[in-house]
Amino acid sequence: MRTFEQISNLRTYLRGLRQERKTVGFVPTMGALHAGHLSLVQRARGECDVVVVSIFVNPTQFGPKEDYSKYPRDMPRDMQLTSNAGVDALFLPTSEEIYPAGFQTWVEVTEVSKPLEGALRPEHYRGVATVVTKLLNIVQPDIAYFGQKDYQQFLVVERLARDLNMPATIQMVPTLRESDGLAMSSRNVYLSEEERSAATLLSRLLSTAGQRVLAGVTSAQTLRAELEALVSAEPLATLEYIELVHPDTLKPIQTLGEGVTLVVAAVRFGKTRLIDNALIAPEGVAPPRPRVSKGV
Ligand code: PAF
Repeated sequence: MRTFEQISNLRTYLRGLRQERKTVGFVPTMGALHAGHLSLVQRARGECDVVVVSIFVNPTQFGPKEDYSKYPRDMPRDMQLTSNAGVDALFLPTSEEIYPAGFQTWVEVTEVSKPLEGALRPEHYRGVATVVTKLLNIVQPDIAYFGQKDYQQFLVVERLARDLNMPATIQMVPTLRESDGLAMSSRNVYLSEEERSAATLLSRLLSTAGQRVLAGVTSAQTLRAELEALVSAEPLATLEYIELVHPDTLKPIQTLGEGVTLVVAAVRFGKTRLIDNALIAPEGVAPPRPRVSKGV
């Protein structure tokens, strides 16, 4: 596995591969890798000739009171995991490489960034959209892979890639879960033992929502109240939001019986904030497939 800190060196390496007509798969990450990230790598490995992973804890997507300085970092382990997973190139830029002195250009996806995470973390998606645009420009992949766990992030990236005429395909990969349903996340390491077992609440909320819709519940208001009651019953959980929204626009849905709904939740367990989501549909509606957006 080759490692690169400088954009120019990575570009020279990739230019050579492109001249050989090799396809490039790209998995952007912030490190602290887990099996969820590796499932993105595995998907890229199966679909592309060359796999590039970036590890960059992007300061601009953290709010002033968020965990940027404490975000888990373990480079030796990440290097071992990526090398074992058959990654060809690891891009490890410094902050100065990505945001050199004088940097002043931002990418803002105005609508799909606003609700849910965007409402609680106002600068977050501007930081994500900006760094992902830069990374896609640097790597110029054929396919870039993003996990479904950050569903809204996927929509933001899908939108910016279309709006800015990026040629890459943006591929969603289903969320990988622990055996008890907890979605894999780098932030799970913050949970105490008690919080870790309480955190299974999140995936239970999503499966309850799916079952209730299959059982014929059509009022989003009723279902939301039921789900909120489940959160209130867990003493270690503090609800930030649970919403039933349209999977393309993230606009609230009132009636659930008509198509696919995205149920999306953010819950705090102690100081740790976790998010999760699922696509749910009533009986007779085809189960949704992971989104993919072809480059334009
Ligand atoms: O999902 C993440 O790890 C980050 O938001 C990303 C896409 C690597 C941008 O910093």
